[in-house]
Amino acid sequence: MTQTAPVAGIAEIDPLSAVTHPDPYPYYRELAASLPFFRDKGLGLWVAAGRREVAAVLAHPDCCVRPSAQPVPPSLAGTAAGELFGQLVRMNDGAAHAPLKALLMPMLAGIDPDSAAQRSVALARMLDAGEAARNAMSGKDINRWLFTLPVVTVADLLGLPVAGDGGKAVEVAQRVAAFAAAQSPLADGQAVAAGAQAAQWLGQWLADAAPGDGPLPALREAAHGAGIAPQAVAANIIGLLVQACEATAALAGSTLLRLGRGEPQWEAPLDVVVARVARDDPPVQNTRRFLAADAQLCGHAVKAGDAVLVLLAAASCSGPADGERAWTFGHGRHACPGDRLAQALAAATVAALRARGVDPVALARAFRYRPSLNARIPHFL
Ligand code: HEM
Repeated sequence: MTQTAPVAGIAEIDPLSAVTHPDPYPYYRELAASLPFFRDKGLGLWVAAGRREVAAVLAHPDCCVRPSAQPVPPSLAGTAAGELFGQLVRMNDGAAHAPLKALLMPMLAGIDPDSAAQRSVALARMLDAGEAARNAMSGKDINRWLFTLPVVTVADLLGLPVAGDGGKAVEVAQRVAAFAAAQSPLADGQAVAAGAQAAQWLGQWLADAAPGDGPLPALREAAHGAGIAPQAVAANIIGLLVQACEATAALAGSTLLRLGRGEPQWEAPLDVVVARVARDDPPVQNTRRFLAADAQLCGHAVKAGDAVLVLLAAASCSGPADGERAWTFGHGRHACPGDRLAQALAAATVAALRARGVDPVALARAFRYRPSLNARIPHFL
C-alpha cells in the first residue's frame, strides 16, 4: 500500500516531525496499528512502524546503514569529518570493518556501568571548578552539562586525558558535539564547517594524548596485530564519544522533564525512571536503512536504493515492554553496545544536576526540543 497522509485525524504530524512533537505517542501507536509498513510519498521513504516490521527491517541482510553509492553524506565528503565518518563501524556494513568491530564491542562491554557512574561524580566536581560562581544554574548551563558530563566520562573511562583539566574536558565535549551535529541532514554550511574543524581537532588531540589507564593501549595493540590501520582505530575511538553525545544528553534531559512533571510513579529510584524514559519517551526515535538490492520487505517489493525510516519509538510505545532491551537502542547487527552504559551515564548526569540544585519542575516549564530528524533532545530555556 502506498500512502501519503498516514493517519487520519492526527494532522500536522508526520514520521519525521513526530521526533520533536510535544506528544507524538498517540500518533505512533495509531501508525503501528493501522500502517505498520508503508510508503510515505511526501517524504520519499518507506516507513516501518509496527514492532514486527521494525525488527524485520533491522534484521534484513539487504538493509544497510548507508546507501551503497554514498558511504559518506555528500555534505561531509572531502572534509576531515567525512574521512572520519567513512571509517566508523556504526556507519558500515562492509566486511572490512568486522575485525575492528569485533575488538570494539568486547572493549565496551568491559566497561562497568556502576564504575562509570562513580567516575562521573568525580568528573562533575572537576566541571564545577570551571563554572562561574552564581546562585543557580541557568538553562544554558544545564544544556552544557548534558552535552559534557557523559562524553567526558566515556573519554575518561577509555583512559583519555580529560580528568584534571576541566577547560580541556569542556572543549573536547564541545568538539564532539560539533562533529555530531554536522552529521545531521539539518546541518547548515556553518555547522558542517564546524564539524570538519572539530574532526580535525579531535584527531590531533587523540594523536597527542598520552596513553592513560584504560582499555585503549590493549585495543591499539590488538588492532595492530590484526592489521587494522591506526587511523581506523582512532576514528572509532572518536566515534564512541560521538555516540555518547546527543542520545545520552537526550535521555538525561527527558528524564529531568519526566521528574519535573511530578507524577507520583516517578518517585522510583533514578535508574528505574531512566529505564522507563528510554522506553516511553525514547531519546533516539528512529534510524534509517537503505536497500542494497531489490527485495521483498514486509510483504512489499522494495527497490535497490530505497530508504526505510525505522520508527523505533513507534515499536517502543505500541505494545508491552518485552525483554530487557529498549527499542531506542536498536536491534540486530548494529544494535547499540552502549545501552547499559548510556543509562548509567544519564542517571549520573541527572543526579549531578539535582545535587547542584537544579529543579526539574522549573525546567519542565520552559524548554523546547532541539531541531532533529531522529533524536528527541530537550533544550532548556
Ligand atoms: C541514550 C543513549 C544512547 C542511545 C539511545 C543509543 C542508540 C543507538 C542506536 C539506535 C544504535 C543503532 C543505530 C542503527 O541501528 O541504525 C546505536 C549504535 C551504537 N551505539 Fe549507541 N546509543 C546511546 C549511547 C551510546 C553510548 C554511550 C555508546 C558508547 C560509548 C554507544 C555506542 C554505540 C555504537 C558503537 C554503535 C554502533 C554499533 C554498530 O554499528 O554495530 N551508544 N546506538
